[in-house]
Amino acid sequence: MRRTIEHVGWGQLTYEIRAIVAIAHELRNMGVPITWENIGDPIEKGEKLPDWIKAIIAELALEDRSYGYCATQGVLETREFLARMVNERGSYQVTADDIILFNGLGDAVAKIFGFLRREARVIGPSPAYSTHSSAEAAHSGYDHLTYELDPDNGWMPDLQDLENKVRYNDSIAGILYINPDNPTGAVYPCSVIERIVDIARRYDLFVIADEIYANIVYSGYETCALSQAIGEVPGMALRGISKEYPWPGARCGWIEVYNKDKNPEYKAYIKSLLNAKMLEVCSTTLPQLSIPRVMGDPRYPAHLEARRAMFEQRAHEAWEAFQGIPGVRVIKPQGAFYMAVLFEDGVLNDRQVLPIANPRAREYVEQIVQGVPTDKRFVYYLLGATGICVVPLTGFCCQRKGFRVTLLESDDAKRRWTWRTIAEAIRQYLASA
Ligand SMILES: Cc1ncc(COP(=O)(O)O)c(C=O)c1O
Repeated sequence: MRRTIEHVGWGQLTYEIRAIVAIAHELRNMGVPITWENIGDPIEKGEKLPDWIKAIIAELALEDRSYGYCATQGVLETREFLARMVNERGSYQVTADDIILFNGLGDAVAKIFGFLRREARVIGPSPAYSTHSSAEAAHSGYDHLTYELDPDNGWMPDLQDLENKVRYNDSIAGILYINPDNPTGAVYPCSVIERIVDIARRYDLFVIADEIYANIVYSGYETCALSQAIGEVPGMALRGISKEYPWPGARCGWIEVYNKDKNPEYKAYIKSLLNAKMLEVCSTTLPQLSIPRVMGDPRYPAHLEARRAMFEQRAHEAWEAFQGIPGVRVIKPQGAFYMAVLFEDGVLNDRQVLPIANPRAREYVEQIVQGVPTDKRFVYYLLGATGICVVPLTGFCCQRKGFRVTLLESDDAKRRWTWRTIAEAIRQYLASA
């Protein structure tokens, strides 16, 4: 080509959660039945939307305006509804003008990082959620900048590490956190969120809080929304319906913008996100129309409560299944629907194996484990030997070794089989060399 046409950051566009699928498909073609534990899609794992939510969506499908474009920023009545929800939390007040709807948070994240000045970096947690870390890295052309989540402190952010990195790297313009967190399941107390906001205030940064799991906090854990801690600092919270109705296929999420009128630069940046959306005309209309009707329905709080209780019970079950395995540590999730299983330092090596009965699958796994991180090696052997597809922690911008499981399988027997089988596989693998 006359000119190089590759984007400087394209190599950063990796998504381990989906990349593992290609390997699983190869194994499936060789006759290994796959148990998908890699992706956070409740529908894929058998959850059914309540009939009353489906009825609202079906009703909307009979309305003509569901088929048209809507306002670029999003349907006005939906933005008004969402603004009221923010205001009911107290502390910080927004208007419909502070809400922007996107085609899922995937779309929001692509624009948030894609329209940030290239030299301006956003530091995020490690382990990271790949959509954030890849988008931020691709925008900058460098590896994603991270601060540590500390398993010795219940996966809380290491605030000293965060502040040191912010202090000594003046390209950092923003701090990202996820609460409740994916992949650790940690829920941050208000004091932690206030300290993150305080760092942002002292170093003149903005804050991004991914709150897509905000309504899946297990009982007894205290937390708050960014809107309740933001004060005068520029910030935004990311929310959506993918994990809540749950309706990930709707591709519908939004950002709540705080303090844009207090900072002209931040205001211009937010305007650029909206202008970018304008080129696409708007986000999907029907899911937006459903929001006030579903979330405003008197049955919605009970729906959220039932799901909270369900995931809390499953988190306990998953945590118990991994107790007592030497070399392995799990921190009980406090929210969302993931759990990170950690290998202690030094327990993994590149000689460990699992027996794989299918000879073609064994040969394939033996090939693909060459030169990969040791947790990925375990994940590939687990896949070949049991068909269970989990995501290695090193795929989440993380130096620690481990893997992530989801709490989504709705077939109780299959879920328990999955935990048991993984636990047995770990024992066998660690004992193999
Ligand atoms: C932390 C986090 N943010 C955002 C998303 C994606 O949301 P959406 O379906 O709205 O793109 C996910 C999906 O797994 C997630 O875990």
